[in-house]
Amino acid sequence: MVDVSLKSLGATMEPDAAKLDALMGRMVGDLGAAASIALAMLGDRLGIFKAMADCKPTTPAALARKTGLHERYLREWLAAMAAADYVAYDRETKRFHLPPENALAFAAEGSPAFFGGAFEVSQALFLDADKVADAFKTGGGVGWHEHSACLFRGTERFFRPGYNANLVSSWIPALNGVEEKLKQGAVVADVGCGHGASTILMAQAFPNSKFYGFDYHAPSIARAKAAAKEAGVDKRITFQKAAAKDFPAKNYDLVAFFDCLHDMGDPIGAGAHVKEALAPSGSWMIVEPFAHDDLADNLNPVGRIFYAASTMICTPASLSQEVGMGLGAQAGEKRLKDVVKKAGFKSFRRATETPFNIVFEARP
Ligand SMILES: C[S@@+](CC[C@H](N)C(=O)[O-])C[C@H]1O[C@@H](n2cnc3c(N)ncnc32)[C@H](O)[C@@H]1O
Repeated sequence: MVDVSLKSLGATMEPDAAKLDALMGRMVGDLGAAASIALAMLGDRLGIFKAMADCKPTTPAALARKTGLHERYLREWLAAMAAADYVAYDRETKRFHLPPENALAFAAEGSPAFFGGAFEVSQALFLDADKVADAFKTGGGVGWHEHSACLFRGTERFFRPGYNANLVSSWIPALNGVEEKLKQGAVVADVGCGHGASTILMAQAFPNSKFYGFDYHAPSIARAKAAAKEAGVDKRITFQKAAAKDFPAKNYDLVAFFDCLHDMGDPIGAGAHVKEALAPSGSWMIVEPFAHDDLADNLNPVGRIFYAASTMICTPASLSQEVGMGLGAQAGEKRLKDVVKKAGFKSFRRATETPFNIVFEARP
């Protein structure tokens, strides 16, 4: 018989039967969640959720006609999504429908409730695990650019709804005098801009201002340029491939870092360059994932997601660059303040926050 006793593993404590039962229950839920997300991603990618966004009851056959997909696959997918409670099922009529709340979460691209982008980011955690496993052994890094393309696309789709909901209406007004400057006509740099969602949003809101978006990842800059053209703001945004420590200085009124300072190997060096690049009265806006200073206070559902992303994406990204500080996505205010002060900024404060982000303002 195979010895599966804990003692054979070197354990020094006996398991408690009730706690084991509870853990097994949670694990069934977690495994189901991981499996459901894989299927929800198919629904997102194949346009099935969007085809159900009218919230009307449907059958696999009707959905097959509407989407052009095969009925047998749709029947199984609908059953799986109904078991996950992502799709509703009526036992009497044997029809499926997407309730309106679920339509927001799965089909309404751009809504603050939309999860399609987050699903794509979670796909990268699995796809790129081999590279991260190697890095665990070598202590080396995995650059942002070394990840699967679903990470870049997913990050944009995941973050854009939060920027739509908060950036212009509450984050910029929370900074000292910045909104007024942007209305009058300011010069702004968005560093680590990725696909440029935040840059484009600011350019749309402040037509008198001029915007520069920088990122070291060339394919992201190419996508940002195309997106600016589609949004009709390409005349007022210059996207350019540049790293945080060497983007061109232009006496900016505002330099913004959206969810990227902790991804950088040398955040202090980046901050020192921001100080050089800013006008003397300028502001550095740093948007970071929400975190408390103490790890124990981050052990909650949001911290669970951020620590996972930090392990698989953010920390390896930082360790792949020079200095390799490895701040992590749950750095917290105290450590971020230390970085900003070491970069030479005199003032640093928490300007505002949401359940997912903290917005800091630093002044030279
Ligand atoms: C989590 S993504 C955030 C992207 C974008 N700011 C957003 O909010 O959608 C982090 C970004 O930082 C960029 N990045 C990482 N290290 C960088 C560096 N040293 N200089 C410039 N960009 C960097 C990555 O290429 C990536 O686009």
